[in-house]
Amino acid sequence: LGGAKLIVVANREPYIHRYRDGEIEWIRPAGGLTTALDPVMRACGGVWVAHGSGDADLEVSDSKGRVGVPPDDPSYTLRRVWLTKEEEEQYYYGFANSTLWPLCHQVYCRPTFEPAHWETYRQVNEKFAEAVLEEAQGGPALVFVQDYHFALLPSLLKQARPDLIVAQFWHIPWPSAEIFNVCPWAKQIVEGMLGNDLMSFHIQSHCNNFLETVDRTVECRIDREKFSVTRNEHETQVRPHAISVDPDLAAEYLGDDWERNAARIRRKYRLGDLPILVGVDRVDYTKGIPERLNAVDRLLDQHPEWKGKFHFLQIGAPSRTHLPAYRDLNESVHQLAEQINWKHGKDRWKPVILLNEHHGPKDVTLLYRMAAGCVVTSLHDGMNLVAKEYVSARSDEQGALILSNFTGASRELTDAILVNPFDVQEVATAFHEALSMPSEEQRRRMRRMRKTVSENNIYRWAGRLLSEVGKMVDDPLEMD
Ligand code: G6P
Repeated sequence: LGGAKLIVVANREPYIHRYRDGEIEWIRPAGGLTTALDPVMRACGGVWVAHGSGDADLEVSDSKGRVGVPPDDPSYTLRRVWLTKEEEEQYYYGFANSTLWPLCHQVYCRPTFEPAHWETYRQVNEKFAEAVLEEAQGGPALVFVQDYHFALLPSLLKQARPDLIVAQFWHIPWPSAEIFNVCPWAKQIVEGMLGNDLMSFHIQSHCNNFLETVDRTVECRIDREKFSVTRNEHETQVRPHAISVDPDLAAEYLGDDWERNAARIRRKYRLGDLPILVGVDRVDYTKGIPERLNAVDRLLDQHPEWKGKFHFLQIGAPSRTHLPAYRDLNESVHQLAEQINWKHGKDRWKPVILLNEHHGPKDVTLLYRMAAGCVVTSLHDGMNLVAKEYVSARSDEQGALILSNFTGASRELTDAILVNPFDVQEVATAFHEALSMPSEEQRRRMRRMRKTVSENNIYRWAGRLLSEVGKMVDDPLEMD
């Protein structure tokens, strides 16, 4: 980084310290962002500024909220910013997850537009700006802002320190201008994001939507050849960079004795030696979990020969359960799983196994490795890293990926069985195809997908993005 300090800002911390039976333990949260960025930070070093969310955070951090991570082998600093309950309620559950999240995913439910949420969102962005400016004191720094929690942070940083290099990655989709502009604070949000030197999304169509939104929202000059926006003499480049995973991690998580562990899991959930289709998601209404369960039901209606012949295993990590929309979804996923099991189950066989708890990366990778197919039916998703993790776990070149057309990953993983998740029939047919796919065809498809994931890995994503931003400033930063 040419001597500049790397500061990542993300709402979610990569490690959470919490109490368990009176002892302090640490866990890694579910969700694509932390999974993707932690390996980059481990390789580059620097500071990760995040909202401190664990109940034991205070005890392990210093007076400024700093702690070395990963806890078992520290290689970078986590700086925790403490938020009050009210701030968390209005900034995180409110504006970030009840306004921007549904707005950007174009879900068919109405985002909330609450002035108090917006006001707290603004204040929390200011609070993070203070922490970042403190960390950036005394030298050049590259601030790499993550996601929709911090749309206002880039311009706050640029105003205070025009010499800082600021880049932002938006981990979720960016909707069309018509959709985004229903937000009463669309203009302020876009202006905040134009404080960046580089504004990046997963795919080109999100960049196109963003430029269109800027065009209709603020006074500026847009260069469509260069894909950049100039406003108040400051230029923001808009670029796609598809996020990815570290493809070598899977082998590390599996270890040498994975087969023994797989046998243990088969016994624990009474899977016998039946093939498994696996889904791994946070329980979120953008992930299409009820849709895929309905497809299991349809498959068993149409192909009763599959009864007693496979399991659909869904890991549903509870997420944002403070919000009614998430609690309701959790409830309806349970009910649906029960109905399907009641309707189609026989003797001790149940088609759907729902594990409604958080699982660490080792267990998840083991399930990927055991599964005949992995099911990703997001209704709309920026990238979806489960798809890429599944592929990277299959060094045996076996297994089929069923992947929604509405994920960023579907642009790269074209050898998956691509489906429209709203079309229950199509998904049911895809399950049938996955369960019956000849080994040779699995190999052919998986080999190509593995090549894609191994080439376009997370280090390439970070390297390209950071060296691109380096080139845009007067004093270029070098990245290998
Ligand atoms: C998505 C978002 C991330 C978020 C993750 C988990 O991947 O883009 O910003 O961290 O979901 O959600 P949570 O609200 O638990 O951080």
